[in-house]
This record gives sequence, C-alpha cells and structure tokens, in this order.
Amino acid sequence: MLEAKLSELEARARRELQAASTPEQLERVRVEILGRKGELAEISKGLGKLPPEERARVGKLLNSVKQTLEQILEQRKAAFEAAATQARLQAEWVDFTLPAPPPPLGHLHPISRIQAEIEDVFTSLGFTVLDGPEVETEYNNFDALNIPADHPARDMQDTFWLTDGNLLRTHTSPVQVRGMLKHGAPLRMIAPGRVFRNEEVDASHEHTFYQLEGMMIDREVSVAHLVYFMKTMLSAVFHREVTVRLRPGYFPFVEPGFELEVQCLLCGGAGCPVCKYGGWVEQLGCGLVHPNVLRMSGIDPDEWNGFAFGLGLTRLVMMRYGIDDIRYLQSGDLRFLNQF
Ligand code: DAH
Repeated sequence: MLEAKLSELEARARRELQAASTPEQLERVRVEILGRKGELAEISKGLGKLPPEERARVGKLLNSVKQTLEQILEQRKAAFEAAATQARLQAEWVDFTLPAPPPPLGHLHPISRIQAEIEDVFTSLGFTVLDGPEVETEYNNFDALNIPADHPARDMQDTFWLTDGNLLRTHTSPVQVRGMLKHGAPLRMIAPGRVFRNEEVDASHEHTFYQLEGMMIDREVSVAHLVYFMKTMLSAVFHREVTVRLRPGYFPFVEPGFELEVQCLLCGGAGCPVCKYGGWVEQLGCGLVHPNVLRMSGIDPDEWNGFAFGLGLTRLVMMRYGIDDIRYLQSGDLRFLNQF
C-alpha cells in the first residue's frame, strides 16, 4: 500500500521536476513533494504503523526515492543556473576587436574658411601670404602709414595702448610696412589677421575682429588693376560674378582712396534691408599707395607705385553666411559653429 503510493509519487515527481520550466516552478515542486510538510513527509508518517521488518524495508526505499528526487532537483537547479549565466554572459559580451566609433571631428571656423579661400585666390595670382604680430609699434601702425601723431586720423580708430608704448594693432595695414621693408619692390602680398579696437561691443561692433590686407607694388599699377583683383577676389568668395563700384574714401595711406562697394547680392541692386535700400554694400577700403608710405619704407615712388586694400574679413563672413550678430563669431558656442 505505502510502496505503491511511493512509486506513484516518484513517477509523478520525476515528471514534474522535468516539466518545471522556471526556477520558481522547480521550487514549488520541491516544496510540495520534498518539503517538510510535503507529500514525501506525509508518506513517511505512515511508516510507524508498519510491522518492524516492513518498516525497515519501506524506510530504506523511501530514503532512496528521496535521494533520487533530490539529485534530480539539484541537476535541474544547476541547469537553470547555467542557463542564467549563459544569458548574462551573452548580454555582457563585448567584442574588443571591433573598431572604436570615430571621435567627433571638428571643422574650420567660418572665418578661417573664407580666409583660406581668399588666400587661394591670391596665391594663384602670385601673391605671398604674410603674417605680422598683433602687438605692434606705434610707428608701424600709424607713422609709417602716413598717420603722424597730430593727425586726426588717429582718432578714427580707438586704440588699445600698452604700458610700454606699443599697441594692439588696429588694422592689418602695418603688415604692409613689414612687407615692404622685408621684400622691397616689386611686391604682391596679402596679410590676414586679428585686429583690435577699443569699441563698445554690440551686434555690429567687436573689440576683436579679422581683416585681410593686400598690397601690390610694381611699375605703373593702376586703379584698373585694383578693380580687377578686387572683383576676382569677391567673385570667388561669393561664388558668382559680382558688380563693384568705387566711391571716394579717405585713408591717409592711399591717394586716391576709395570705398569699394558690391552690388547687393540679395536684391541685385533693387534695394532691400541688407543694402539698406541703396542697392550697394560697402565692402572694403582701398586706393593707390601714397608716395609717402612707399618712401618711408625704402621704396622710390618715382620708380614704383601700387595699390593696397583692407578687407573686413569678419564683416565679409557675416554677409556671406547671413550672420546678423558679430558676437557669435567669437562666442565659441558650438550651437552656432556646428551650422557651418
Ligand atoms: N586700414 C583700414 C581700416 O582698418 C582699411 C584700409 C583702407 C586698408 C584702405 C588699406 C587701404 O590698405 O588701402 O579701416
């Protein structure tokens, strides 16, 4: 009677242990069958009513069934654990031989880009690119450019003076002086760079901005040459043929001096907010180099002459990209810079 019950329970327990598909189901089977109040414990309570020889035999049998089932239980448990470990390893697996994702690449600042484009145009026309220091002498920044100490033109540019008498250059024109002294005539040079003025900062004024200076000295250089080079440069920057015109302009280092204007690229000259309804946009200062400027830097104005120009690079970049606040350019703000 007890033996039959036992073998029925063993068969059922084996089936259920195998059928359990989660550790939780397995645990339930264990509690129901092998637990302290489980079915096996229930059966063992009947042992006491058996005659002694029967009791020993069935007791043994019961123990062996219990051991067998416990063994199966342990195996099943181990199988679940192995599967869990396997799944975890699968999820954590990292392939160290995979190539790393590329680091985010930066790009050139819009000013550097336009500067490089203009350098390409001029170097292809036989100009060299010169560099000058941002801290300049008063002589190079003013005197050698025909702006003597008592000249009112000194007040046109608010200068940052240094305590040693030097200054932060207010324009790139002093590089003309350095170019002439170093290379003499003939000369074809441009000089892009940073300049500084003691300005109240607002949407259209910065204390620090970029200019691009140019100078060509040769025999019999004319305004026609000047216009040709300016048109070539601006057409390259704006990626289309531009129309330019000259208006008289005063700069002490050129005579005659001009303001060069470009026909508005937005409205084609009809008038719009960008050109303030005039149809033309002032683009750069230029002119034929003043004889005093040549002479002061050791070039004989009876033998040589030339043109010079000074382009507001920052302003040009703003026009080219439609940037309406100069302060963005030095902000270092990636939300701004990533648009280029
Ligand atoms: N240096 C002038 C400025 O900063 C710009 C300029 C005008 C440069 C005429 C030149 C020039 O070389 O010929 O306002």
